[in-house]
Amino acid sequence: MTQAQTYTVTARHDDRGDIARIRFAPKDGGPVVPFTAGAHLDIYLPDLDLWRQYSLCSDPAATTFYEIGVLKDQASRGGSVAVHKRAIEGVDFKIEGPRNHFPLNEQAELSVLLGGGIGVTPMIAMAKRLQALGKDFVMHYCTRSEQGTAFLDELKAADFADKIIFHFDDRDDAQRLDLTRDLPDATEGTHLYVCGPQGFMDWVISTAEGAGHATENVHREYFSADVDLSGDSFEVECAESGVTVTVGADDTIAKALAAQGIKIEVKCEEGVCGTCMTDVISGDIDHRDQFLTDEEREDGDVIMACCSRGKGKLVLDL
Ligand code: FES
Repeated sequence: MTQAQTYTVTARHDDRGDIARIRFAPKDGGPVVPFTAGAHLDIYLPDLDLWRQYSLCSDPAATTFYEIGVLKDQASRGGSVAVHKRAIEGVDFKIEGPRNHFPLNEQAELSVLLGGGIGVTPMIAMAKRLQALGKDFVMHYCTRSEQGTAFLDELKAADFADKIIFHFDDRDDAQRLDLTRDLPDATEGTHLYVCGPQGFMDWVISTAEGAGHATENVHREYFSADVDLSGDSFEVECAESGVTVTVGADDTIAKALAAQGIKIEVKCEEGVCGTCMTDVISGDIDHRDQFLTDEEREDGDVIMACCSRGKGKLVLDL
């Protein structure tokens, strides 16, 4: 676990589409902890006692600040609204990371970056990195309308502007993202990166895989997920401590164990960040997360305790 550090908001720009672009610098001065394109920050929101994850959109080569973009999403669980309210210049935040679960393959022959709405943020950092490396790439940025497109001015002025294709929902069909037309042929050296709303991601991933792109070349970052936490109750035994609990139909492993004094660190609570990953010694896992790869699921030796469930009895290495 990385140590939380205090960062101060040094700038804020309220961009189009209800997106606040927020810059942070270390409170004590000095450089930021280096990061790689695709990384995110874990940001603590004291009013809600919650951690939320936001992808970095700043240039990984920038050493004095981090930048994130946060969509004010009234339908969310309150995290983004709280960030919008609190992130004013001079205010301190407790931040962990950066962590990167969405790394670039810098050896790829061609990288295709597909961002839907606020899912464009990691793509911007990736585009900056690929441009610095002189690599071949294209970025597709899908939004509802040009008027609601954050980062528009910066991207139009970027030195990689010729590699960005904008797709606006309110314009004619010809300029909308057409995966049959816009995805390149599947090759070993072609890597796709997708981030955006769940429907957008599911569509891109299933179309790309259906067109022959290998699962491991279709990189994905979910920033939230509609996760169904319910199911039949099951038992969890903690091998080391000897504690056994029953996880009820609407309960989670993390909560049931916390009630017995066994704490598993939880951040996103919806199976996307990987924080609550716990080793499984035995038992049948009902994976509900978006974090693990298919291979990791098949291995069956880890579980996301914030959302995934068991069938019958699970024995955890706790
Ligand atoms: S807390 Fe994020 S995956 Fe469980």
